[in-house]
Amino acid sequence: MKAKACLFDLDGVLVDTARFHYLAWKDLAARLGFHFTEEDNERLKGVSRMDSLEILLDIGGLRLSQEDKVIFATQKNNLYLTYIETMTPEDTLPGAREFMVAVRLLGIKTALGSVSKNAAMILDKTRLRPLFDAIVDGNIISRAKPDPEVFLKGAELLRVPPPSCLVFEDAVAGVEAAHRAGMKCLGIGSAEVLKDADLVVPGFTGLTPGAIAF
Ligand code: G6P
Ligand code: MG
Repeated sequence: MKAKACLFDLDGVLVDTARFHYLAWKDLAARLGFHFTEEDNERLKGVSRMDSLEILLDIGGLRLSQEDKVIFATQKNNLYLTYIETMTPEDTLPGAREFMVAVRLLGIKTALGSVSKNAAMILDKTRLRPLFDAIVDGNIISRAKPDPEVFLKGAELLRVPPPSCLVFEDAVAGVEAAHRAGMKCLGIGSAEVLKDADLVVPGFTGLTPGAIAF
């Protein structure tokens, strides 16, 4: 690995919360009277809570007042919180913790690059926090992915130039954000979905920093 810093997305990369987001949005869609598929859900990954609601309403062909949007986004988040409240260190995705430890042993810096406002709770529940040199989450940035702000902020906090940073992402919007930040991106998940990533692996199991070319 040539990178001097690794920037990790959280939901769907280090922890399986992408599933919880999907279940909570699906529940809201059902209450609004339409079906929300896993394929639809790909469009919400890496996207902020309110932008996700806009996409969901668009899929359902619904228009709501700003007041109602805030109520529904809060309801979705409350259901999502009931899922993440039960998380433990065992809910870290297979191989993710080991990969982060291996990277740090090589002297490579690590940062979180998530637009979630719930990241702190997840890092505490899973005890992942000590593995990061810097944390960038939805409470300190103003523009969600695909805007590059979240990753540029991470590079700045780590004092590593963007071309020396490598991003780990499971979302189409996240791959675009990494590239717009001038960083390489390793996709975690399906090569079909993450076709713009520089390399795609199904997960961290068996992945070593030495096996990554950039
Ligand atoms: C991540 C997830 C998105 C989610 C966003 C905001 O990027 O991939 O699906 O909408 O965070 O999360 P929050 O926890 O603040 O609602
Ligand atoms: Mg993600």
